[in-house]
Amino acid sequence: MFKTETYKTRREKLAKDLGGGLVLLMGNEESSMNCKDNVYPFRQDSSFLYFFGIDRPDLGAIIDIDEQKTIVFGNDLSVEYIVWMGPQPAIADQAKAAGVDNTAPYAELHEYLSAAVKKKREIHYLPPYRPENVIKLHKWLGIALDDITDKASETLIKAIITQRSVKNEEEIREMEIAVNVSGAMHVAAMKAGRAGIKEAQLTGIVEGIASGCEMRTAYPVILSVNGQTLHNHYHGNTLQPGQLVLGDFGAESLMHYAGDLTRTFPVDKKFTSIQKDIYNLVLDAEVKCIESLKPGVKYMDTHLEASKIMANGLKDLGLMKGDIDEAVASGAHALFFPHGLGHMIGLDVHDMEDLGENLVGYAEGQERSTLFGLKSLRLARTLEPGFVLTVEPGIYFIPELIDMWQADKKHEAFINYDKLKDFRSFGGIRIEDNVLITDDGHRILGDPVPKTVDEVEALRG
Ligand code: GLY
Ligand code: MN
Ligand code: MN
Repeated sequence: MFKTETYKTRREKLAKDLGGGLVLLMGNEESSMNCKDNVYPFRQDSSFLYFFGIDRPDLGAIIDIDEQKTIVFGNDLSVEYIVWMGPQPAIADQAKAAGVDNTAPYAELHEYLSAAVKKKREIHYLPPYRPENVIKLHKWLGIALDDITDKASETLIKAIITQRSVKNEEEIREMEIAVNVSGAMHVAAMKAGRAGIKEAQLTGIVEGIASGCEMRTAYPVILSVNGQTLHNHYHGNTLQPGQLVLGDFGAESLMHYAGDLTRTFPVDKKFTSIQKDIYNLVLDAEVKCIESLKPGVKYMDTHLEASKIMANGLKDLGLMKGDIDEAVASGAHALFFPHGLGHMIGLDVHDMEDLGENLVGYAEGQERSTLFGLKSLRLARTLEPGFVLTVEPGIYFIPELIDMWQADKKHEAFINYDKLKDFRSFGGIRIEDNVLITDDGHRILGDPVPKTVDEVEALRG
């Protein structure tokens, strides 16, 4: 856990921002995989971690702003449970470490809320993403199941987003640990990759590094010779000469902060000439966009700049044509770059996505595009000191998308479809780093992970 003062300060700020009412923060339960006691690895809710830091299932907490009282609700374990799972710290001791003096059995949470409902008090809660929490809110607050998400408190959501968007020193240190382990995972994959090895074996190597550091991965590992499939979780292919391997994976630190790095390397010791050309376009966009980051920059503009750098390069290679500013404005480049340049990162890999993508990544009044490609941009707002975000441009050749666009004669003025015949098995290239916005610029988190062609080839050699 962080310092006691950290959690107290966060809760005090939240109470001040809301001004009144009662805040309910729900922890997570264990989640069953296929039978009740065979569970997925436990993951505490990130906002619960942020305000209380207690990393165990079956907790809830109330910050009663009107009564100036904070209570953590949960049950200490019975000996029968300890027989199976071992002794656990007392909830009262864990709450104290988070600066909370009041604890109560879990059943009293329902009673506390029922009394508040009866008095028609204002109860702020977050939109639940786990079905068991939806059901509890329905039972406790008397709100119809279908209305639970809509009736979540926008005031609470916005106050939490404001706080969690700006990372403090303790969080940045923790993120740097996650990014460094993520970097070690990538270096290991780049060293071990060779023709004849299976994607699954490389996946085992990188997951093993996270496990060996007592960590888990922050999201399912993407490691594939089919990098053109953006979130490809299939690991059954065997690496073949001439292919590229795209690895997008990262560790989640012990305190649950995420690292999210992507590197792409050739199965052979060296990139082919065309692989190198495309790789350098992506690298150029990544490096230039990172260089431009500082407070006041609108990340929408950075995304469009990355799009233009890569589209201009694709024009030089004869794959695109026409006026590139017009091509990017019309979304033609999204055939090759169909996702956003990046997202906030923190306790969640896509930080606070459960609170609402647009509230996290878009300013009030900033409309989200409906254009293919641009609509997938998760972060578009103006950057502030303390934000941590990813920069992750990519170029992909997706045969199904190329075929569909070509059949529809889509963006024919900007795309040389006949040239794309040679790229059907190219795959995809993405390069991703995690960047902190500082008072006057930016800093890439973690130790550098090889990413120039020379650096990558040196590791492959
Ligand atoms: N790892 C998923 C992403 O980069 O957004
Ligand atoms: Mn990623
Ligand atoms: Mn990412």
